[in-house]
Amino acid sequence: MSPSTYLPADIAATLVNPAAYADDRLHDTYRWLRANNPLGIARPEGFDPFWVVTKHAHIQAVSRQNELFHNADRPTTLTTKTVEQRTRKITGTPNLVRSLVQMDAPDHPKYRALTQSWFMPVNLGKFEARVRTKARGAVERMMAHGGACDFVADVALGYPLHVIMEILGVPEADEPRMLKLTQELFGAQDPDTARFRDTIGPEMFSAMIEAVVKDFGDYFAKITADRRAEPRDDLATVIANGKINGDYLPERDMTSYYMIVATAGHDTTSSSTAGAIWALAENPEQFAKVKANPELIPGLVDEAIRWMTPVKHFMRSATADTDLGSRRIAKGDWLMLCYASGNRDEEVFEEPFAFRCDRKPNRHVAFGYGAHLCLGQYLAKMEMRILFEELLPRLRSLALDGEVKMTQAFFVNGPKKLPIRFELN
Ligand code: HEM
Repeated sequence: MSPSTYLPADIAATLVNPAAYADDRLHDTYRWLRANNPLGIARPEGFDPFWVVTKHAHIQAVSRQNELFHNADRPTTLTTKTVEQRTRKITGTPNLVRSLVQMDAPDHPKYRALTQSWFMPVNLGKFEARVRTKARGAVERMMAHGGACDFVADVALGYPLHVIMEILGVPEADEPRMLKLTQELFGAQDPDTARFRDTIGPEMFSAMIEAVVKDFGDYFAKITADRRAEPRDDLATVIANGKINGDYLPERDMTSYYMIVATAGHDTTSSSTAGAIWALAENPEQFAKVKANPELIPGLVDEAIRWMTPVKHFMRSATADTDLGSRRIAKGDWLMLCYASGNRDEEVFEEPFAFRCDRKPNRHVAFGYGAHLCLGQYLAKMEMRILFEELLPRLRSLALDGEVKMTQAFFVNGPKKLPIRFELN
């Protein structure tokens, strides 16, 4: 008998509960879904119904059919009905910003082409020495803490931010502002990073997000003017001077472009970097293995990204009636791609709950799939590899030194507190 189209209410409630993303409830729920109802409809209170896509193969199937499953027609991340209505009133579209993520063809490939070659390994290689300098700085700061630190606060948060800001061309003095804005945007549901701590009602939530978008816009308008007057060799120069069909990007698209690079570029990488250290601290045999075989560092990086899967979901919507697995998806239906579930899919990964630096192949979907596949994947992998090349030879041992805490957010999340002890070589 095929499972009911509609998912149980408690499962649906867990999927929209940010707190569940900070503990075991999330993976317990995904495991149940993969086993019992891998493609069903959730109808949680306050949200439009959405299909919950938990199998690796279905996530790939939806992601690669970019004509059939659009990004722009509905919110690209899980959004309450109230917030969506309000957003539509403000922008005339379901999303507050219009970055690559909120575009479909024909605009998407044109906008993506503006920066695509920047993010390719050939170009990024030019930045390797500068990234290594930042990595050494981060390692020295960690060493200065003696034998214990909070790896998130002391290393993982700052380092990817330094790297992306260097590449983008934001001065170091402005980095704290960028960090705060990103945390407010992505971690907005978490009581520790939310701008208004106690008010997570939908009205306040969208007011807060709007304020963050405006701050970003004001900041980057100045950068644009500067780079048009005096071009440099940074990514901001490419965005500020980029033209589509002969014109500069409209203001909203331009702010969105800066925002996606500035924001997607560090919280995600911070979470994966912290995830690697967390996993190594919990798995001493993996720590010993990668230390003895530094050629496994790229494998460590990929496994940490699979393990943590910081981007928990993106949404798509169907442009026509279609079949997916044994289900009939109707035109206009909204779908949640659960990357963290796909990355623990028992049919694809041997022992998916084990952390293995030498996992091969490692066909995770943490960077998505298809036309929207993460633009920054090579950058993320490069900066993590370089950090571990610098850090691991310095460490003799590594262990947890207290409780790990995760951010409470159903879009992007990862460790927010990772106390560790370490001995130096
Ligand atoms: C898109 C994950 C790092 C920039 C995405 C998507 C995911 C993702 C899941 C959506 C893919 C899809 O819809 O198929 C990650 C993870 C990262 C990471 C897990 C770190 C471990 C970065 C970095 C940048 C970046 C360092 C650099 C700027 C982008 C951009 C997009 C994107 C611009 C939109 C691409 C498009 O829609 O065409 N990323 N990302 N990401 N990412 Fe990343």
